[in-house]
Amino acid sequence: MSGPDLRRAAAARALELIEPGMRLGLGTGSTAAAFVALLGERVRAGLDIVGVPTSEATRLQAEGLGIRLATLDELPELDLTIDGADEVDDQLRLIKGGGAALLREKIVACASRRMVVIADAAKHVARLGAFPLPIEVNLFGLTATHRAVEAAVARVGCTGPVRLRRDPAGKPILTDGGHHILDAHLGAIPDPDALGAALWAVPGVVEHGLFLGIADAAILAADRDGQAEVTVLGSLV
Ligand code: 5RP
Repeated sequence: MSGPDLRRAAAARALELIEPGMRLGLGTGSTAAAFVALLGERVRAGLDIVGVPTSEATRLQAEGLGIRLATLDELPELDLTIDGADEVDDQLRLIKGGGAALLREKIVACASRRMVVIADAAKHVARLGAFPLPIEVNLFGLTATHRAVEAAVARVGCTGPVRLRRDPAGKPILTDGGHHILDAHLGAIPDPDALGAALWAVPGVVEHGLFLGIADAAILAADRDGQAEVTVLGSLV
C-alpha cells in the first residue's frame, strides 16, 4: 500500500469518531488533509459539524469542501482535534511542525477536550528525535535567538545542528503567524520534557514542536500484505 492509502485508512478510522454537532479542530499536513477530504464528503451528505482550521492551507481546503468553519475566538472550546504528526512515541508524545503549523496546531489541540493523531505507522518511534524538531521563532533578533536555542539544546544533552528552515528558493520560510522556523537536527531526544522547558525559557521562541501530554490517542496505519492494518495507541473514547 502506498503512503496516501495508509494516510487515508487512518483518516477513515478517525472519521468514525465524528458525531453530529461536534466542534472539531482540523489539523494540517497530508494526513490531516485526507481526513478533511473525507469529512467534506460526510458534510455533503448532511453531517452538521463546525471546524476550526489550524492553518490557512486547511482553511482553504475545508472552505472549498463546504465545511462550516469558525475561528478559535468564536469557538474557544472544541470537542476533538484530529491532526497528523511527524513522530509519535509509546507515551503519545509527538513531534509536530513539519508543515510549519505547530503554533496554531498546539493552540487548537490544547483548546480541545481530546486530540487524536492520525499517521502512517512509520511515524511511530521508540524515541523521539530522528525527525528534526521544529521551533517557531520571532523574526526580531533571529541570530541571538538561534544561538540561545543551540545553547539550550546542548544544555539538556542534545547534539546536532539547528538550522533555519528555508523554502526551495532559499528564503527563510514564514509561518501563518509571520514567524520563522528553526529545525533542530538532534537524532535523539533523551528527555523531551527537559528540552521543551529549556526551549520555552529562550526569549524569542514562540513555540516548539514537542507535544507532550496533549494527544489522547494515535491511529496508525501499516501495510500488512497489501491491506491497511490500523492500530490504536491510547484510548479513542
Ligand atoms: C504540520 C504538522 C503535520 O501534522 C506533520 O508535519 C505531519 O504531516 P503529514 O501528515 O503530511 O506527514 O505537524 O505542521
